[in-house]
Amino acid sequence: MQFHTLPSGQSMPMLGLGTFELREQSGADSVVAAIGLGYTHIDTASGYGNEEIVGLGIRQSGCSREDLFVTTKVGRDDLAAGPARACAEASLERMQLDYVDLLLIHWPNLDVPLAETLAVFAELVNEGKVRNIGISNFTRPRVDKAVESSSIPIAVNQVEYHPHLDQEALRRHCEGHGILLTAYSPLAQGTIVQDGTLIAIGVDCDKGPAQVALRWLLHKQIAAIPKASSAGHMADNIDLFDWTLSDGQIARIDAIETVHRVIDWWPGDFDKDA
Ligand SMILES: NC(=O)c1ccc[n+]([C@@H]2O[C@H](COP(=O)([O-])OP(=O)(O)OC[C@H]3O[C@@H](n4cnc5c(N)ncnc54)[C@H](OP(=O)(O)O)[C@@H]3O)[C@@H](O)[C@H]2O)c1
Repeated sequence: MQFHTLPSGQSMPMLGLGTFELREQSGADSVVAAIGLGYTHIDTASGYGNEEIVGLGIRQSGCSREDLFVTTKVGRDDLAAGPARACAEASLERMQLDYVDLLLIHWPNLDVPLAETLAVFAELVNEGKVRNIGISNFTRPRVDKAVESSSIPIAVNQVEYHPHLDQEALRRHCEGHGILLTAYSPLAQGTIVQDGTLIAIGVDCDKGPAQVALRWLLHKQIAAIPKASSAGHMADNIDLFDWTLSDGQIARIDAIETVHRVIDWWPGDFDKDA
């Protein structure tokens, strides 16, 4: 595993398990299987409706809490001070955890001042309920506003990122603020495996196209949280740390021109930077 040191000094595993749509006992079984394969970073959100299941999987895995890195998110309708606190505390209750390692604003909401939400996040850190804070789906101007509005460092911006949606300018911008980018939907919800360039590079490396896509992200110092329910996919996706892509292979992936956003719940929202 590769790690990134966050501003708090805590290490964050660069590969995690995405859990969107993992449900019921089979979802908990996926979390147990992932932890058994060496995943120690689990990503969920209040909005996924599966925090109980994620918490159950964590308990059933038998892994000690301090060996895990758990992320959850406060939804865009809960960003005012009272609801933000209530949402974060309800997440802890649902997962039966004393703290989360990372709490994110799931989506920006222009109707709520960022400073209001981030003040609550800082309080939760002071109270020991949250170890690090961050944002998600924030464009460059909004990242700047979050940094200006927070009394403590913004550790992470979680955004869609894969070879069909290369957001290099955003990555560099976040790096300039000391913010780690985490790629969600790093496999473009599974569709990335049909990409001819990734398939060809995978053949040369004796790896699959999904592994090539994830290795490309790690090369760029971008964390990734692929979701997998099957143990075979999980095992493939964590097999990333004893091989690399050549500079030529990285350049071929950088040159893929397809621009395909798989998550656009608020159409056009990404372009409204005011
Ligand atoms: N912050 C946000 O707004 C936001 C938005 C979206 C997602 N997320 C987070 O990011 C996580 C990942 O994103 P995602 O779930 O949208 O999509 P994803 O991780 O890009 O793709 C998941 C799909 O890829 C398949 N897959 C996984 N590994 C594979 C492999 N090695 N070969 C072929 N197919 C493979 C999975 O199949 P199986 O399940 O059958 O194994 C699943 O259908 C989410 O689960 C969630 O935690 C965050």
